[in-house]
Amino acid sequence: MTQNQKSNQMWGGRFEDRPSDIMEQINASIGIDKRLWRQDITGSIAHAEMLAKQDIIAQDEAKKIIDGLNKIAEEIETGAFEFKASLEDIHMNIEARLRELIGDTAGKLHTARSRNDQVATDFRLWTRNAIDELCILIEELQDTLGDLSEKHKKDVMPGFTHLQAAQPVTLALHMDAYACMLNRDKLRFKDCRGRLNTSPLGSAALAGTPYPIDRDYTAQKLGFDRPTHNTMDAVSARDFANEFLFCAAQTGLHLSRLAEEIIIWATPQFGFIQLSDSWSTGSSIMPQKKNPDAAELVRGKTGRLNGNLVQMMTVMKALPLAYNKDLQEDKESVFDSYDTLRLCLLAMKGMLETATFKTDAMRKSAEMGYTTATALADWLVMNLGLPFRDAHHVTGAIVKMAERKSCKLDELDLTAMQEIEPRITNDIFKVLKI
Ligand code: ARG
Repeated sequence: MTQNQKSNQMWGGRFEDRPSDIMEQINASIGIDKRLWRQDITGSIAHAEMLAKQDIIAQDEAKKIIDGLNKIAEEIETGAFEFKASLEDIHMNIEARLRELIGDTAGKLHTARSRNDQVATDFRLWTRNAIDELCILIEELQDTLGDLSEKHKKDVMPGFTHLQAAQPVTLALHMDAYACMLNRDKLRFKDCRGRLNTSPLGSAALAGTPYPIDRDYTAQKLGFDRPTHNTMDAVSARDFANEFLFCAAQTGLHLSRLAEEIIIWATPQFGFIQLSDSWSTGSSIMPQKKNPDAAELVRGKTGRLNGNLVQMMTVMKALPLAYNKDLQEDKESVFDSYDTLRLCLLAMKGMLETATFKTDAMRKSAEMGYTTATALADWLVMNLGLPFRDAHHVTGAIVKMAERKSCKLDELDLTAMQEIEPRITNDIFKVLKI
């Protein structure tokens, strides 16, 4: 070994001194990117196989490398692996351990490769997997909402505009609205997956590599649709991360709307929903309280999800081609948005599955506030041929009368209504009742 022992063993050939402690701290990403270990090993195995297939390294060298990498995977899985900040990142931690295990042959793994295409590949693989897992959780929450819709097809509640009772709807329609939002969220994630699924491997540092590599082979081995088209773009593109972060933020935003409704519905004033004990918390001072903390946290975590998107968009702004170390700041937000959204989806499912919907209170509430007034106006249009504007006017007068008499619309006398519009018949009561 001719390398200067004081400097970094991976890139320290031209260095006399080791980095200062703070340099090491700001440079090291291992605390975060160790989560890429599985993708890093999978990517390296595909790369080693390709190098051997193309006679760039010998078959027995590739075998040694692959056996060593599998051994490292085992060590990481069992917790025996020691991650070192002095080795900067996951790529160099694994390569250094490979050298300890198999000796100098380990150095051949990095032929025709740079950490730039390596990390871009690992990160795409990780994000692809994260999308697949989130899509399953989204689907499971859609199923929960679907079950609730099925169960509450006939349960009436007030539909709101301006948070004022507007028209009667079913709880099923309300729940299904969220299932529709989640369906679009899932499609957006899948769309993002489709666009990110190309392989940067072989782009090397930025300009490709002179070795006779086979990029289609590694792309196919790793489940990518094809290799990326442009090497400079491949090592520096992170729009897939931005898209992922947007998809997560948008899904979180939808969940926050549902969370907000649960919080409102759980107040004694509304009383539309009762959360189970396992999804609520108490107050240390007010014994009567049962708080919807999980829903509040789902609502609150939207802040992190939006923040993560802004963080990454800002890192990328005005970044010149090709790789810059700024790009190392790309993973923390993506990992955090995945963790956060995963928790939110699971919490929302758990909360909804165990909640009791107070359908009687919902119906009572729908019966107040003259929510059938629009149906009354429509009856006037459809049965008496009134222009809608006139029907609206007549209905307003009837509502005013009900208000004066402190009664519901369907408690008014037919004769009283006929004073306002003489052609109204008994048939009107069909639409006045919820
Ligand atoms: N840890 C680095 C990152 O996450 C790997 C790539 C380093 N490349 C470089 N040219 N220094 O971005």
